[in-house]
Amino acid sequence: MFRFQLHARIILPAVLAALSLEPSWGVADTDKGGREAAVTLATVMGEFGGLHRALRKTVKDPNAVAGSLDLVRGMQGLAAKSLMLAPSMTSTLRVEEKASFLLGYKRQMVKLIGGLLDLEDALLQNDTGRAHECYRRLSKVKSDGHNKFQLRDN
Ligand code: HEM
Repeated sequence: MFRFQLHARIILPAVLAALSLEPSWGVADTDKGGREAAVTLATVMGEFGGLHRALRKTVKDPNAVAGSLDLVRGMQGLAAKSLMLAPSMTSTLRVEEKASFLLGYKRQMVKLIGGLLDLEDALLQNDTGRAHECYRRLSKVKSDGHNKFQLRDN
């Protein structure tokens, strides 16, 4: 009886609380050999870059709106994932600089997500002219993000 109460009152709620704290996407993925591989911002951004390149070919085409929407939604997912990750540059900063650096990074990533939502909106209206404009505006968000948060090679 005591054992059951211990389970019901203490262990079970603790396990449920731990599960609900788990983010909806993990920071680890599985590589081809089935081992756990760390997901880094560089890998997520690399994938994002691939979709971004593919979108450049379709975004203006009124006959390719469905495909463009798939790409844009894929990019939104990757940008949301990126929001939970930290740039490599973070590890080069002093402890007291890190929090505001990461806040700035997150604000910039939210800007990117906002731009992708505008792009989705334009595509949903079948307005490929506006969609292309939104696509072009992403370049500035990208260059600002890279200038401030990407580690430069020496
Ligand atoms: C159209 C928008 C963007 C595109 C197409 C893009 C694409 C890329 C690509 C291809 C890489 C190199 C990945 C690799 O090393 O293989 C990269 C890296 C990176 N990007 Fe972006 N990016 C975009 C926007 C942004 C924004 C808005 C930010 C910041 C909020 C950002 C932050 C970074 C950082 C920090 C890295 C280096 C990875 C690291 O430090 O770990 N990017 N990006």
